[in-house]
Amino acid sequence: MPCHDIAVVTLDNPPLNSLDHALRVRIVSALTAAQADPAIRAIVLTGSERAFSAGADVTEFGTPRQFAEPILRSVLEQVRHSSKPVVAAIDGVALGGGLELALACHGRVATRRAKVGLPEVTLGLIPGSGGTQRLPRLAGIDVALGLMLGGTQKTASEFVDTSLFDRVVEGHLLDAACACAAELADAGAPWPHADRIHLDPGYVSTKVSLARQRLNARQRLQPAYAALLDAVAASAGPMDEGLALERSLFLGLIGSTEARALRHQFKAERESARLPDALQVAPRPVSTVAVIGAGTMGTGIAICALDAGLDVILVEQDDAALSRGRHRVADHYAARVSAGKLDEHAAVAVQARLLPTIDWQAIGRADLVIEAVFEELSVKQDVFRRLDAVARPGAVLATNTSYLDIDTIAAVTSRPQDVLGLHFFSPANVMKLLEVIRSRDTAADVLATGMALGRTLRKSPVLCGNAFGFIGNRVYNAYRRQCEFMLEDGAWPEDVDRALTAFGVAMGPFAVADLSGLDIAWRMRLAQAATRDPRERHVPVLAQLCEQGRMGQKSGAGYYRYTDGQRAPSTDETVRGLIEQASAARGLQRHALKADEIVRRALLAMVNEAACLHADGVSSRPGDIDVVLVQGYGFPRWQGGPVFWAREQDRKQLLAELRELVAAGGRGMRLADEAALALLLD
Ligand code: NAI
Repeated sequence: MPCHDIAVVTLDNPPLNSLDHALRVRIVSALTAAQADPAIRAIVLTGSERAFSAGADVTEFGTPRQFAEPILRSVLEQVRHSSKPVVAAIDGVALGGGLELALACHGRVATRRAKVGLPEVTLGLIPGSGGTQRLPRLAGIDVALGLMLGGTQKTASEFVDTSLFDRVVEGHLLDAACACAAELADAGAPWPHADRIHLDPGYVSTKVSLARQRLNARQRLQPAYAALLDAVAASAGPMDEGLALERSLFLGLIGSTEARALRHQFKAERESARLPDALQVAPRPVSTVAVIGAGTMGTGIAICALDAGLDVILVEQDDAALSRGRHRVADHYAARVSAGKLDEHAAVAVQARLLPTIDWQAIGRADLVIEAVFEELSVKQDVFRRLDAVARPGAVLATNTSYLDIDTIAAVTSRPQDVLGLHFFSPANVMKLLEVIRSRDTAADVLATGMALGRTLRKSPVLCGNAFGFIGNRVYNAYRRQCEFMLEDGAWPEDVDRALTAFGVAMGPFAVADLSGLDIAWRMRLAQAATRDPRERHVPVLAQLCEQGRMGQKSGAGYYRYTDGQRAPSTDETVRGLIEQASAARGLQRHALKADEIVRRALLAMVNEAACLHADGVSSRPGDIDVVLVQGYGFPRWQGGPVFWAREQDRKQLLAELRELVAAGGRGMRLADEAALALLLD
């Protein structure tokens, strides 16, 4: 269809048309030229197949370029007051500022597959260029609230019942957009615009109050959610007042600790998923994965590989164990089908790529093998000997061990260069973190393959050195020990858990211990007892609970009591008695610990361990430690991670507090010195 009297302005800033300053300048000049050209009667704004625009350039945040004219709001004002109608033609993504640009146009045409979203809350912000005012007017208050609070993306085809798009098309996007623009020009001004839609104030207010009540505990801790609802509430009033309120709320948030922490995490996740430059080589191709062990972890790993489109060979030691594993996978897909999250055909097709077997020869077809058998060195070594015999040359051999030394496992094979650690977290098909562990002999392309697999599985892969506990368990153990010290000093488990959940952790450390079972830590501590310095500060409560058969939720009691199969914990006097005995045995006068003291001590313990492990070369970038804690251990994302937190503290005071903490931790607790701290924080 001819577009001779319609100017098509194409955003061209690959890969995703981020609205950086240079692009904003070019849009303004193209609009100005089109508006001045008498041969032009309407304007179409479009992008590429991948993106109309993914929104603001996050790297501009906090720099003068973000606020250099034309800011996005000025671009939008020019569109809003254009003397000729402007139509957005959307394919690929229209997110954040990209969607706000489209919302300010007089018409919108999208392909069915186009994806839209206003995910600003995930960066601690709210839309700052009219999104909170125009999306409710165009898509309706319910849809708008869902999209903005969820920080999610939806396809254009899901909005056909709303006024968001004038047309949603299968193909020929530009033709449809030009036709829409021509119709608007023919109809003459005033053109339709979100600003002319009025919402029912009573309805908006009810919906916003409901959404406010439904915010979960973690959302309530993040100021962006309340600000978002305040802004949306204003969408029932005059547009200019709403825009002014939205802007002031946005400006109030942009420098907040939460927004800076979320930007730090966003950047750290991008960086951690890439190997350091010196290790950048092409990965080995992987299309078939073998998983050894169909227990909790093995089946989770198999599911996540199947979901990523890989062929999976699931290997067990006998038919009974294989059958249990096969059922676990089948139950998982059946649950997704009955929850309406997957259609039946897709579930059958996915599982057709799974080959459960007890025949080890089948492993010969795998490009990569992940071992997830019992956490026992001799068992794992035996598995690796057998893998060495059946895996094809060049296949990558990975262990999912949590604590064992990977060099010792690799040493039983004739190909230690092909061996690495791939440490998944439970549930493996849900948790985003994947620690990729480099052992002494791991080849660079094997590491690259591990990182690439992490991305294929849509995880956050993080490179770690081969040291006890890698990054995550090492920091978490230090944190957990510190929390146990606090019990001896005077806190109860519920004080510690309450203080830390109020800080934002997903679950307090004692609730986590009860959930995952105390026996794992108990067994490890028993194994370490022989080599432990008797003068080391060691809290006996966990061992005493286990000796009484209190293994956590699964046995009805741990640090808390769980009555009648309930998951809700209740306080238990037996535990208090054991804690008081421990305090007395150490000669400690128990005293109440304030919530902020609890949080600070927990964070200091993490920072101290993080600095030690970074100095030891276990992590390659400080930000990697934050990614591990946030993605794998429930550290609140909006608090950035322990490294981000430490960078916010006064360095001198931090050092002094670390010294004090380590002195109270007694013998065997290593202090991160000034140099280690500088390496972590500078
Ligand atoms: P699990 O006990 O649920 O499953 C282990 C499976 O391995 C069992 O089904 C067993 O029959 C099978 N198996 C044992 N020896 C075998 C052999 N020679 N050949 C084939 N299959 C064999 O254990 P889970 O929890 O799945 O843990 C597995 C590994 O993953 C361990 O190394 C553990 O440290 C690690 N891991 C566990 C996490 C967790 O939260 N459970 C988290 C991260 C890692």
